[in-house]
Amino acid sequence: MSKQPIGIFDSGVGGTSIWKEIHTLLPNENTLYLADSANAPYGPKGKDTIINLSIKNTEYLLNKGCKLIVVACNTATTNAIDYLREHYKIPFIGIEPAIKPAALQTKTNAVGILATKGTLSSALFSKTSSLFASNIKVVEQHGDGIVELIESGKLYSDEMISLLKLYLKPMIDANIDYLVLGCTHYPYLMPLLIDILPNNVKIIDSGEAVARQTKTILEKHNLLNTSFIKTKNEFFTNGNPDVMKSLLDDKFDVEYLDF
Ligand code: DGL
Repeated sequence: MSKQPIGIFDSGVGGTSIWKEIHTLLPNENTLYLADSANAPYGPKGKDTIINLSIKNTEYLLNKGCKLIVVACNTATTNAIDYLREHYKIPFIGIEPAIKPAALQTKTNAVGILATKGTLSSALFSKTSSLFASNIKVVEQHGDGIVELIESGKLYSDEMISLLKLYLKPMIDANIDYLVLGCTHYPYLMPLLIDILPNNVKIIDSGEAVARQTKTILEKHNLLNTSFIKTKNEFFTNGNPDVMKSLLDDKFDVEYLDF
């Protein structure tokens, strides 16, 4: 069982930012990544639709024999992970915006969060936010349009820069010193965000924490791959394979799959 792959899914290519963290921490693991780009973005969809899409992705990964599934999507985690954990036996790792460390470390008492509508309106996000950030100012911003641009290969485009300037302005005006990236597509925006934000603003995401949690849960279930044969890392998308390939620096094959 330990040689079976870790399954990872996202609404699209963004979860590859999480795959990179997992692969760095756990290079002996076989992995299988599924990008549901044909249905991206999940952010504006309702909870039931997000649950149904998450079930479809999970079933595909289970049929491939995955030993654990990482829901590398904040929107799918905050809307569907409770359902998945209730209905399937294998362990699930999710990702949520890192609002807690930002709230604990802010000196200006103001933090910004950029995430999808689906994440920011979820019950899980409001619970975490009210638990850890009720005493500070939290400037929330839906990242409408960002996922679409990344999925269509327009990551470093003028359109993207204009959108980001628009979305970050209220945060800069509120004197934030932390920006929380609440969507797994957004770490790819890092160079643009650094350019636009004042120097004192720190940008945080949950990628590393997810990789650490994946390791902990594999250890707990005795599922760590301890064999030293060459590992297999497979990438599938029902969108354009070239977009994902470029985010993986052309180092891996990406296969089109109609799922
Ligand atoms: N990567 C997904 C997330 O973390 C993008 C959501 C979307 O498809 O709108 O939320």
